[in-house]
Amino acid sequence: MKIVVFGTGYVGLVQAVGMAHFGFEVIGIDIDEEKVKSLKKREIPFYEPGLGEKLREVLDLGKLNFSLDWNGEGEVVFVCVPTLRMKNGECDLRAVKSVFERLVENDFRGLVVLKSTIPPTEMDELEEKFRDKFEIVSNPEFLREGKAWEDFLKPERIVIGVRSAEAFEKMKRIYAKVEAPIFGMSVESAQLSKYASNTMLAARLSIMNEIANIADLIGADIQDVEKVVGSDRRIGSSFLRSGAGFGGSCFPKDVLALDVVARKFDYEPKLIAPIIDLNEEMVDRFVKKIENKLGDFEGVNFGVWGLTFNANTDDVRESPAIKICRNILEKGGILKVFDPRGAENAKKELKGEIEFVENMEDVLPAESLLVLTEWPEFDVDNWKEIGEKLKYKWIFDGKNFLNRDRIGEGGLDYCGIGICEMDVLDLGNSRLD
Ligand code: UDX
Repeated sequence: MKIVVFGTGYVGLVQAVGMAHFGFEVIGIDIDEEKVKSLKKREIPFYEPGLGEKLREVLDLGKLNFSLDWNGEGEVVFVCVPTLRMKNGECDLRAVKSVFERLVENDFRGLVVLKSTIPPTEMDELEEKFRDKFEIVSNPEFLREGKAWEDFLKPERIVIGVRSAEAFEKMKRIYAKVEAPIFGMSVESAQLSKYASNTMLAARLSIMNEIANIADLIGADIQDVEKVVGSDRRIGSSFLRSGAGFGGSCFPKDVLALDVVARKFDYEPKLIAPIIDLNEEMVDRFVKKIENKLGDFEGVNFGVWGLTFNANTDDVRESPAIKICRNILEKGGILKVFDPRGAENAKKELKGEIEFVENMEDVLPAESLLVLTEWPEFDVDNWKEIGEKLKYKWIFDGKNFLNRDRIGEGGLDYCGIGICEMDVLDLGNSRLD
């Protein structure tokens, strides 16, 4: 079976390499000439651990090809183009529409699989228009950036939304080599499942963040609270770590899009929009905390570690770190920043008194150090040395991930989100178990 993947970004490239890895003949199509050139030269134009090696492996086997042009060949088309959020919260379907137009121009008659995240019912008009030409299937992705290849090979589930039993059988054949439960359902249910998963995860983080704000006010410690809440099996302990807001290309966009869909059907969601409102507020509260400790930012030199929204990625989309940096720059602060992978993307987002450095140590000396992404290398053990290059002895952790005991041992004070700043009782158990 020959497979065509439209869009070779984070999602599409993983899909294309993955399908080739399963032995299908795959062609990846993109409108970005530079991207196609780079992929043909066996280089991926973004950072995703493990994907580069797999790409080269399938290219060597001759299973994958990239092109700007397409002549209509292939039995199954995966649509992996971006569906950005517009100002009104709606999805921008222009890229999907243009793929559909190419399908019609080339008289394609196979199966069209939507991996791009599209809100339920927003495709109705498009689907109606193309119904007699090809069948549309929804196959949402649940890939985490930084762990995308691992998630592709070992997903927790495969969701397939179809309009016919034949399409479902074909999709099952495509994923035959993946060991994961396959959930077959209607296109609407598949699309809603994706939004439900992301909204649930985002809500869970926002609830913990809200509780962290309360912890700050009453002098409790959110990391102790997280342990207790997470040890309830009905809740579970992953995805509970509070921080100065979550980011990424999916959560904020998808949560808002679900709100927009509900309103189109005259249902006013009570819980969805506040998830995002609180998330925005977390950044401001974190900056306020820094101001409370250090005073006015005018002319203050900050060292910053971390700009990406998550570790193991070069993606800075909706990154709380970028929002925090912007906020500080607006208030007259001066930044020296380091990120292991995200500097190039961050340079497009940040303007002002900012210097990008090549080594993490080079953000020092500074008046204060902010750690804004959970890259493991930032959890250092030489805090004493670092402290000697800081005017104010505070370490601000926007992701609540640093080892606070070690920071304390190095003679520095720690400030996170929802973390008691009074002396904590030492009961002999590490806070980060
Ligand atoms: C997410 C979903 O996990 C994935 O299934 C979906 O398809 C796309 O959106 P991604 O955005 O790549 O994936 O990253 P993820 O690891 O989910 O992190 C999202 C944000 O939540 C990050 O800013 C991260 O730092 C934050 N986060 C995560 C927390 O603040 N606390 C946690 O405990 C976990």
